[in-house]
Amino acid sequence: MAGHIDPSLLRRNAHSPSFFALSRAGGTDQAELVDFCIPCNPYFPTPEMFGRLGGMLETILKYYPSDADTITAELCGTLGLNPQTVAMGNGSTELITWIDHLLVRESLAVPIPTFGRWTDQPLETGKRVDMYPLRESRDFALDVDDFAAFVRARGSRAAVICNPNNPDGGYVHRRDVLRLLDRLVDLDLVVVDESFIDFVDAEPAPSVADEAAIRPNVIVLKSLGKNFGLHGIRFGYLVANPALAGRVRSALPKWNLNSFAEVMVFLLKEYRAEYRTSLARLAADRRTMTDQLDSLLPGLRVFSSQGNFVLVKLPDGKDGVQLRDYLLSEHGVFVRECGNKLGADSSFLRLVVRPPQDVRRLLTGIGAFLYGTEKARPTVPLLSPSPRSDAPPLRPGADVPPLPRRADPHPSPSPRPEAPAHLYGAPEPIPSAPPAGPPVLRPSSLEDVYSTRSI
Ligand SMILES: Cc1ncc(COP(=O)(O)O)c(C=O)c1O
Repeated sequence: MAGHIDPSLLRRNAHSPSFFALSRAGGTDQAELVDFCIPCNPYFPTPEMFGRLGGMLETILKYYPSDADTITAELCGTLGLNPQTVAMGNGSTELITWIDHLLVRESLAVPIPTFGRWTDQPLETGKRVDMYPLRESRDFALDVDDFAAFVRARGSRAAVICNPNNPDGGYVHRRDVLRLLDRLVDLDLVVVDESFIDFVDAEPAPSVADEAAIRPNVIVLKSLGKNFGLHGIRFGYLVANPALAGRVRSALPKWNLNSFAEVMVFLLKEYRAEYRTSLARLAADRRTMTDQLDSLLPGLRVFSSQGNFVLVKLPDGKDGVQLRDYLLSEHGVFVRECGNKLGADSSFLRLVVRPPQDVRRLLTGIGAFLYGTEKARPTVPLLSPSPRSDAPPLRPGADVPPLPRRADPHPSPSPRPEAPAHLYGAPEPIPSAPPAGPPVLRPSSLEDVYSTRSI
């Protein structure tokens, strides 16, 4: 386990610690840590693709990439987009930065909780950020008409929504997003951040990118790291009308995309079927994981998600910081506690959708923390994380039953105070004692590690 992490090795005020930083701090093999924190498609690229990328490593590292126009043109060919309406960035965070510098003039409205850069970036450049609180009592669902009224009341000149939203996975149907765009047509800018939209299975064509290309004030933003499972590459793009997209493109540095991004973009067209398969597997995993969190961990409130993560709320009196530290130190499981997200607090955890064998490890850890006693302790076997290739592949386009809709009522956390031991199968020893007293890693010191609203 990653039980020997020395938090002092990590900087104060850093972003959420990277997988690399945690691995170094723990002095452990990276394979021991299971990352439920950073949302990344575990089923793509395929092992074959990684093999090809690995075989090209020296070339990738030695040579300059082509300029961004060449790489963008290839991506557009694969995705069926008009290159004039697209700007590619070194991660969608680079594009958020430029959108703020170039196009957000005085104020921006944003529902919270959400991805931290949408509040922090404009604040850092002196803009007014009008924060619209999503309500837990409504499952953090965004009511677009109410949000539009809020924008009017505040006089915000720009607005952004994330769809699906991070950290709750809430999804707004395309017809409702279009209604919002219609209502905000006089704003300087409306951004729809669709960084997680490829994970949506609530309707067949959820994106509004086609509309962004022909509307006067709309940008659709996409991160490629999450859906293509390649956060390390740092690539993303935006879609807007040619004038807006051109403005961002002309501000971006030449060669802002690296050779890994170029090679990957040129490989994509050969692996469309595998990509679709990866999304279907992820949606199936999301449904299973949601069901298991809900049924095997009584007292936990589980929010229905269309992203590749699931938001949960801990039972009253249970602290997310302690749980996060416990999971990391005792189970080698790394989760996102939401205490530093505006509009959320430490009772919320965001859990990345991962393959079932990893989820079992998560359930074991959370169960040991929540229930603690032999009687109620969950007995899900603790397994090592397995390579992506372990699970049998789904057929491309395989039928995956839809997730329960977001509007579905969630069971109240309180009526189920104890874990029914029989749900967890045959008793099996938990590897380490649950935290009867203080957590193994002191929260104060771990604040060095987990200190900002990022990701
Ligand atoms: C909604 C949203 N948009 C954008 C980003 C940034 O993604 P990238 O890695 O492409 O910079 C994130 C990262 O988590 C996110 O949650």
